[in-house]
Amino acid sequence: CINVRTLMEKTGFFTHDPGFTSTSSCESAITFIDGEKGELRHRGYAIKDIAEQSSFPEVAFLLIEGELPTPSELRAFDLALKSESMVHEKLITFFQGFKSDAHPMAIMVGVVGALSAFYPDSMNIFDHAQRRTSAIRLVAKMPTIAAISYKTAVGEPVVYPDHSLAFAENFLHMMFATPCAPYKVNPVHAKALETILVLHADHEQNASTSTVRIASSSQANPFACIAAGIASLWGPSHGGANEAVLCMLDEIGTPDRIPLFLDKAKDKSDPFRLMGFGHRVYKNHDPRATLMRGICEQVLASVDTSRTPELELARALEQQALQDEYFAKRKLYPNVDFYSGIVLRAIGIPRNMFTVVFAVARTVGWVAQWNESFLDREQRISRPRQLYVGMPAREFVPLDARD
Ligand code: ACO
Repeated sequence: CINVRTLMEKTGFFTHDPGFTSTSSCESAITFIDGEKGELRHRGYAIKDIAEQSSFPEVAFLLIEGELPTPSELRAFDLALKSESMVHEKLITFFQGFKSDAHPMAIMVGVVGALSAFYPDSMNIFDHAQRRTSAIRLVAKMPTIAAISYKTAVGEPVVYPDHSLAFAENFLHMMFATPCAPYKVNPVHAKALETILVLHADHEQNASTSTVRIASSSQANPFACIAAGIASLWGPSHGGANEAVLCMLDEIGTPDRIPLFLDKAKDKSDPFRLMGFGHRVYKNHDPRATLMRGICEQVLASVDTSRTPELELARALEQQALQDEYFAKRKLYPNVDFYSGIVLRAIGIPRNMFTVVFAVARTVGWVAQWNESFLDREQRISRPRQLYVGMPAREFVPLDARD
């Protein structure tokens, strides 16, 4: 690892690295990935152990605070999350301004950015206690905001958080309870959602996290920074892939059409890519995808599988792609989003809410990384250079002299 800053100061040279394939932008002690071995660790703990043994608030504490919580620390953290889970009533009127067919991610970008207007104290970003408060507010309010986006879209009244429920259960309650019928917690669904949240909580310097860090490097308000992260996550090359996978499976329709789509994905003149396949860092397997496949099997065993024909199709697609030389040569494997959409669909989450669920989870990573950036003494405003390929210097031609 070369310190390019030293190189630049000594020689005047800088690196040209489109897509930052080989550039480290910061020091971080939060998440470790070994892409060749398919390993992912948060604060030193393997993702498999975390996913199988921790609740989402526990993971949030680990990522933000640096250590696993003791039982009393977790109780206090949980209480803090619950006490911040409501949103200002005026914010609810903000939702009503959106068209009813607005994509919930578009609503999230606007609403989370608007939180800056409700919490002017959050501008006090150099105060550690204030940063912690902002972090808790964001993690706590995201499920509420996500559920209100959904309720607004379907034209149902907003459901307030229920403090007697655990984090994932409460999210399902806010999504699915109505004035006519309370949501009866389905433990298999709640567990599956909790695991999805845990698996998506952080993933070092991905596009949306880097966006949050870059926005924050100008000392912007944390809510504005997270809104920028949500916008970046939305794209189908990143968090939007979970929604795109289901759209792709619908388009494929039946297993006999898989070869046609594999050919499309290999055709360089066709922009189509196999959604849920490939990763910038994992070149062996994505450990989150392996865990997600297991959750998928468990959830689908508990529901009417005639409602979810996508699983068989996804399995067949995965098998055929893995045997295909094109995918093998480029080390393209299913990523976490290949199976997450199928799980979300099975537990009743509508397709346009898939990336919203991802955003609810990733908020933990965003705020942990945002907070960490203030502890990094080398941190300066992010200001990449460019390789200029435009016109050389030339004489300006006044308007009346131009043909
Ligand atoms: N389908 C077909 N070909 C692919 C795919 C794919 N899904 N992914 C990569 N390739 C090919 C590229 O065409 C390229 O081929 P070439 O060398 O012949 O030109 C090669 O594999 C390398 O691809 P890059 O685009 O250079 O890889 P990069 O690291 O920039 O992109 C990405 C990674 C964006 C994830 C890419 O694999 C992709 O578009 N996947 C589909 C979208 C997706 O699933 N995104 C979710 C990522 S995980 C997450 O964000 C949670």
